[in-house]
Amino acid sequence: MSSSRLPDKMMADLNGRPVIAWVVKAANAICGIDEVVVATSDDKSDDAIEKWCKNNKTECYRGSLDDVLRRFANAAEKYDADIIMRITGDCPLLDPAICSQLLQLLLRTNSDYASNCTIATWPDGLDCEVFTKRALKIADKEANKTEYREHVTGFIHKNRHRFKVETMPCPLPCLQGERWTLDNPEDLEFLRQVTKNLPDGKISSYIDVLNILDANPSLRKINTDIKRNEGLEKTKNLEKKTPITNFNNSTEFLKEAEKYIPLGSQTFSKSRVQYPVGHAPLFITHGNGGHVCDIDGNEYIDLVCGLLPVVLGYNDADVNYAIRSQLNNGIIFSQSSDLEARLAKKICEIIPCAQMVRFGKNGTDATSAAIRLARAYTGRDNVMVCGYHGWQDWYIGSTVRNKGVPADVSKLTHKVPYNDLEYIEKKLKEAPDSFAALIMEPMNVEEPKDGYFDDLKALLHKYGALLIFDETITGFRYSLGGAQELFGVKPDLATFGKAMGNGMPISAVVGRKDVMMEMENVFFSGTFGGETLSIVAALAVIEKMQTEPVLQKIWQMGRYLKENVSSLIVKHDLEKVVLLKGKDPWVVVSFIAYEDVTAEAIKTMWQKEMIANGVLTIGSHNICYGHSQADMDKVVAAYDNALSKIAESLKGGNFKQDIGCAVLEPVFKVR
Ligand SMILES: Cc1ncc(COP(=O)(O)O)c(C=O)c1O
Repeated sequence: MSSSRLPDKMMADLNGRPVIAWVVKAANAICGIDEVVVATSDDKSDDAIEKWCKNNKTECYRGSLDDVLRRFANAAEKYDADIIMRITGDCPLLDPAICSQLLQLLLRTNSDYASNCTIATWPDGLDCEVFTKRALKIADKEANKTEYREHVTGFIHKNRHRFKVETMPCPLPCLQGERWTLDNPEDLEFLRQVTKNLPDGKISSYIDVLNILDANPSLRKINTDIKRNEGLEKTKNLEKKTPITNFNNSTEFLKEAEKYIPLGSQTFSKSRVQYPVGHAPLFITHGNGGHVCDIDGNEYIDLVCGLLPVVLGYNDADVNYAIRSQLNNGIIFSQSSDLEARLAKKICEIIPCAQMVRFGKNGTDATSAAIRLARAYTGRDNVMVCGYHGWQDWYIGSTVRNKGVPADVSKLTHKVPYNDLEYIEKKLKEAPDSFAALIMEPMNVEEPKDGYFDDLKALLHKYGALLIFDETITGFRYSLGGAQELFGVKPDLATFGKAMGNGMPISAVVGRKDVMMEMENVFFSGTFGGETLSIVAALAVIEKMQTEPVLQKIWQMGRYLKENVSSLIVKHDLEKVVLLKGKDPWVVVSFIAYEDVTAEAIKTMWQKEMIANGVLTIGSHNICYGHSQADMDKVVAAYDNALSKIAESLKGGNFKQDIGCAVLEPVFKVR
């Protein structure tokens, strides 16, 4: 009742009955519920609720106003409930059938917690959570954040390594934007209009409500533009941040993982070689939007985003829906599916150089296919590389991580610098008929010189070599058509991966038809090449990028972060130590040695401090659509702390001791 936006909302009239009467009636209709208890606060403002309960033969329990978790734990104790379903009073359109299913989900899966709202797929206002008393008791004993005490279940569903959690997504697509909750006067007006249209006395199903809204689309306009979960966000933002210091489960589990997995991880850049063990998470349980949680129950703003595939955000409702829907047809088949050609056509429409397309799973599949294709097309063996291009022999042999690569393979690959036409010309002149292609990241940390790409393409063509853009990172990030669209240049071939499927494993090699046709004889063929879940995910990503301001927001937030961090670098007098390079959607943070303190040592302290301040990073700003402005502000605040510590420590002359952990070495450096 103490809502600041809508005081006394539970007693507000909705079509002849107070809101509380709607909620309690729906709650009583849930199958399997023994008793409905209104757990309200002992604040005077809630006296009216107790009175209503008395007059309507409904149990009422009163407890702490702010510590809602304790209120629930005490109520569960008093009523001897072994399973508790939590329904909030702001959901007068609650659908008992959904709640009944959720209870069954918890029981049948033997879970500790089940909800339909940990990820947003249902209309806002149908929220329901169900959990065991055991989980509630643990949360009550251990949860110490205001956010957890105010919102009851955050501790349980964030600590997924400890509690078995189930989620029940909405079977219908695109309903996550519907707002049926009661939080402000516009919501009340909306609910009054909707309930006026509901059949008298009948408990509504969400389908009834949808039918009313579809028949009267103007109703939706009454309360649009109000952000979901504003209350929770507000509590989170107000909360005084205490540094994250507990990584015990991560550190312990690493020992277990390393018994069975070399390095304990599938990816160098996700492993202990990139994070200070004991001062960083190493294992993630789940993600939502731009946030992830680790196995110690710590939550972070994620500036890694899975090493850049997560461009829309974790658990994107539209991509998830597309995957679930396709799952009902099957994952892969004995022959190609029509989806392959549908995605290929779409890619040819959006990527300037794409006339034909082949799919792979990793970025490395695509770059390796492009190189083999260029070699087949030109009949030449040597290639030039510029940037990072994946783990296969032909590329990795050119780096210091070349263990296991035959020298005869390595010598065919030649590293060339970025923006250096003369160097490339010299190489081509030295061996005029031997280069098949130059593969390059069109941009990472350095801007291309004016006209560079046109001159480069002309030069390569003069010597019979192809220009291949490795757009594994820039694709679906710089723009929908990649860096080639942004810079207005058409390479002969280009490769895509990472963000294409918002985390689903899919990559593509695309390019000129005459070159791509060579693929009919070049062997690039794998069991999973046409796997359909990833293909529908890519179609959903493209659709979302074409209909929502995804890239616009990513650029805008990236720019905001870059500008604010640049000011902090000046504030802390670190212009000679910390540099931000690259374009706004993917800024790389680089460090320069200071007196006898190495760049790696400074980076290690920075990373450790950013993590302690709730930001997961390995050295770049990997922005996703799921990040919010509040997230960016928190990242800026984390930077302020981290940079202040670095500046102080550099002045103090005890940097090595101040780091407090071993200095991390780069896997190798190509950017
Ligand atoms: C530019 C670039 N190319 C290729 C790759 C290889 O992609 P994957 O790791 O998916 O094989 C990467 C991976 O980081 C990359 O950044």
